[in-house]
Amino acid sequence: MPDTQNIVILTGAGISAESGLATFRGPGGLWEGQRVEDVCTPQALARDPALVHRFYDARRAALATVEPNPAHYALARLDAAWPGELLIVTQNVDDLHERAGARRLLHIHGELLSALCAACEARAEHHGDLPPGSVCTACGAPALRPDIVFFGEMPYHMPTIEAALAACDLFVSIGTSGAVYPAAGFVQLADHYGADTLELNLEPSAGSASFAQSRHGPASLLVPAWVDSLLD
Ligand code: APR
Repeated sequence: MPDTQNIVILTGAGISAESGLATFRGPGGLWEGQRVEDVCTPQALARDPALVHRFYDARRAALATVEPNPAHYALARLDAAWPGELLIVTQNVDDLHERAGARRLLHIHGELLSALCAACEARAEHHGDLPPGSVCTACGAPALRPDIVFFGEMPYHMPTIEAALAACDLFVSIGTSGAVYPAAGFVQLADHYGADTLELNLEPSAGSASFAQSRHGPASLLVPAWVDSLLD
């Protein structure tokens, strides 16, 4: 990729799998233990707030038991060294990219370590459990909820992401099944704007045919090798 200047990287649960965090789909996936409709929709939050808050409390607590893996560190190394534009768009709500040192990073589906006020939309960093009715320090309402984009809600940072896709020369998708939009459509958008496209995934994703190149294997091997090919 000789004339690569601007890079957009999309990551999904597969990049955190080797750190020990469950993916959503596939053997042992998060959605196997739960029904999406029961824990990741506004209706579920209204119907059974305790269940939804407990689901995210458990995932937030799990963060303390895992570490970034070589794939997270490789992307952070690229972020620090890359002279052109670079944006990591993660669908993940864990903090492993941050802990590996990534800076040019956006969470399109929210973050476990953030609480959102359903009344005033203020956000605050939050560690530990977040019981329903927790009080917002900005407005005083007992309305804090997990700062997670539920199915049917608007993903975060879309204008910034779309502008980056329009300007990129290379779009790389890592560890995602291509099952959920709008992220699953980013490859078509990047391709439409003339970018080169590369998929790094354990197995072909639903969108594999849309990528100019696909490499299959564990992210902890594929991502450091890809970053080395760009930096060395
Ligand atoms: N290395 C690389 N890829 C991997 C690895 C690994 N070690 N392990 C699993 N994968 C791949 C799987 O093959 C799969 O294609 O990661 C992908 C994980 O897919 P999903 O479980 O569907 O996760 P993701 O694509 O991130 O889901 C997108 O769906 O449920 C919503 O909001 C949730 O952000 C999530 C979105």
